[in-house]
Amino acid sequence: MNEITEIFDTLEYGPAPESTEPVDSWLDQHGREFSLWIEGAWHDSTDGAGFETENPATGRPLARITQGSEADVDSAVAAARAAFPAWSGLSGHQRARYLYAIARRLQRDSRLFAVLETLDNGKPIREARDIDIPLVARHFYHHAGWAQLIERELPGQVPIGVVGQIIPWNFPLLMLAWKVAPALAAGNTVVLKPAEFTSLTALAFAELTAAIGLPPGVFNVVTGDGRTGSALVEQSDVDKIAFTGSTEVGRIIREVTAGSGKRLSLELGGKSPFLVYDDADLDSVVEGVVDAIWFNQGQVCCAGSRILAQEGIADRLVQKLKARMETLRMGDPLDKAVDLGAIVAPVQLERIRSLVERGREEGAELWQPSWSCPAEGWFYPPTLLTNVDPADTVAQVEIFGPVVALMTFRTPAESVLLANDTRYGLAASIWTESINLALDVAPKIQAGTVWINCTNMFDAASGFGGYRESGFGREGGLEGMWEYVRPAWEADGRRVVDPGAGSSATGTTSQNQGTDGDEVPGVDRTAKLYVGGRQVRPDAPYTIEVRAPDGSLIGEVGRGSRKDIRNAVEAANSALAGWTASTAHNRAQILYFLAENLSARSAELAGRIAVSTGVGSDAAELEVARSIERLFLYAGLADKWDGRVHHTPFRNVTLAMPEPLGAMGVACPDESPLLGFISTVIPPIAMGNAVVAIPSERAPLVATDFYQVLETSDLPGGVINIVTGSRDELAEVLAAHDGVAGVWYFGSIAGGAAVERLSIGNMKRTWTNQAGTRDWYDPEQGEGDEFLRQSTHVKNIWVPYGE
Ligand code: NAI
Repeated sequence: MNEITEIFDTLEYGPAPESTEPVDSWLDQHGREFSLWIEGAWHDSTDGAGFETENPATGRPLARITQGSEADVDSAVAAARAAFPAWSGLSGHQRARYLYAIARRLQRDSRLFAVLETLDNGKPIREARDIDIPLVARHFYHHAGWAQLIERELPGQVPIGVVGQIIPWNFPLLMLAWKVAPALAAGNTVVLKPAEFTSLTALAFAELTAAIGLPPGVFNVVTGDGRTGSALVEQSDVDKIAFTGSTEVGRIIREVTAGSGKRLSLELGGKSPFLVYDDADLDSVVEGVVDAIWFNQGQVCCAGSRILAQEGIADRLVQKLKARMETLRMGDPLDKAVDLGAIVAPVQLERIRSLVERGREEGAELWQPSWSCPAEGWFYPPTLLTNVDPADTVAQVEIFGPVVALMTFRTPAESVLLANDTRYGLAASIWTESINLALDVAPKIQAGTVWINCTNMFDAASGFGGYRESGFGREGGLEGMWEYVRPAWEADGRRVVDPGAGSSATGTTSQNQGTDGDEVPGVDRTAKLYVGGRQVRPDAPYTIEVRAPDGSLIGEVGRGSRKDIRNAVEAANSALAGWTASTAHNRAQILYFLAENLSARSAELAGRIAVSTGVGSDAAELEVARSIERLFLYAGLADKWDGRVHHTPFRNVTLAMPEPLGAMGVACPDESPLLGFISTVIPPIAMGNAVVAIPSERAPLVATDFYQVLETSDLPGGVINIVTGSRDELAEVLAAHDGVAGVWYFGSIAGGAAVERLSIGNMKRTWTNQAGTRDWYDPEQGEGDEFLRQSTHVKNIWVPYGE
């Protein structure tokens, strides 16, 4: 008996290395040197520059990679452009067969890909073999399905065109799959820029596409560092950029593409909370932490890098964690029994070291297991930081390494505050045996994915992506498919008409000298602003004269300022909690009642429209009638546009819930002043957002007349705020305001560019009319799902289910 116990105590793992044979022969076949993959063939760079890609576990070079130049990027984009008509012209079924063939081939060659990924990235072979590569194949199978179903599931949509995709090094082939599979399924063609540290699996994948007969030019790879990425972002013939990487680079890309008409999806950093409540099963929690922060050496955008533990169990959890950390195995990533491999590159290792050092300087207590890291290669031990304050660097900054910071909380309410005390919003996991508590907390956390009693679960059927500075757009599932299509009515995806050109204020600004009661036309005769449910005077006593198309003066409105926008944003944010929490039924009732009130004032509003825009009375009456109808539409949709339950292949349900963005800014179109206002302000409201609206600059009196409709409705104060004035000036303030979660802008191309550029502070969602003027009467252009999708983001909540 004693002997057996002794054996269990001392039993050492024998080495269990995976063979590198298939990779060695593949690398040798290429002379350990790679050019670019353009138009279905290897393509030498124009300037021949290159660099070594290294094995992080040894620091030794694996192969030489090309540094793609601007001219190379141009060639790749030209190849993708040339391939686009034929590829997008295939039927969904034909594309499905290509994607299916890719998936099959990936499975067949899975050993090559797994070993190559491990050698190039440093991740344990167990992860590459059992997680990365199977998920890659799953993505292509799943998206073969979307290709097949596209006409049925995304009716009226067409592919965007040539897509530039830039991916990071932490899951090289998986990030490729997340981007390439939906893009190809939807009929786009692709130029991919892999991360400079880990290009090899993308190059092997390129060869695979040729092997299955993918038409040349549909998928192209240009390797290189950030300069190559930047050239791709700036290339004028690219229709969309999809990026995964740091928030810092995401911000640059947002700025560079502003006003270009390129679509953008960004999957950025995170500092995801891992919440442990006092009734949680601590043994499961410990294994959860292992998966949350030591999976892939913590180089995971959604890593649970902040453990928030309820006070009663925190000490016990720390003890259990330390015991478990002691048993983790770090070493040669090719060893099948290794838990932790190497850090991708010296620069990342240095970043981890310096951030941990900073944490210690700020007072954190550091704990690492007693064993030491391998001497060769770039390794960093699993690390637990305690005595961390929520404001400390290590609690706020993405470390992107195997380092977790542990903090405590007392109550569930406090846990939510701490969880949301971050600029990011990628993921969260919640550990409790109480389903009530878990489902109470899940909707309160600002994050795109919430895992209940599990963590780092991924699947092609579930959308993945961020809130706040973790970016926008989703990858995976139906949500992800929307990122690669556009409405068919948008001509060729480029702007035809500049909607805002020449539509500046018709009146002149004057300073109102009068005070109440003076005979000088005073503030009292000027339509006020509508903020927090009340008509208020603008902060500064400026007004704008409003003139009819024939030049006659028809009234004055307040000229809203920066301060007025700030007040309106504050009002919107105060109204938000109540409005978001109200039931969809309740929101629908309020919208129906608004429609009823509008109907009661039809004649008055039609008169105002006629005078303001010069249209005949029939047209004006039609605009009111359509506005009432549109209110009914969104009242109807308020409780019908709901989520999904995704079929992810685990024992869980994955609830895809559309959630409101928050306080939104809406710069309404000039044309159709009432219908344009209703069409752009009501969908966000129906979805539970609060809005600060800048009404038509040309015909603002239509919106100010609408105050009375609002005042006689049950709409809570602050849900709709209206600030009249210079559209572009005010929109810029909204775009730069960190209290605003999203901005819609239906003005000029230049104004839209400014909104996009200024949105980078908190990486807010923007929707500008890149496609040109909409016909607000046309149901395809003026209403529908697109407006609801732009009002919401999807949170996927993974809930354990079944045996
Ligand atoms: P990065 O954001 O610089 O790199 C990601 C990709 O963007 C790479 O392919 C890179 O070549 C490319 N790139 C760099 N500059 C570019 C530019 N100006 N225009 C277009 N493309 C550009 O990330 P990096 O430097 O590798 O890692 C730094 C930190 O970023 C990490 O420590 C981590 O905190 C974070 N990160 C987050 C990732 C995530 O998945 N959320 C992935 C990678 C890094």
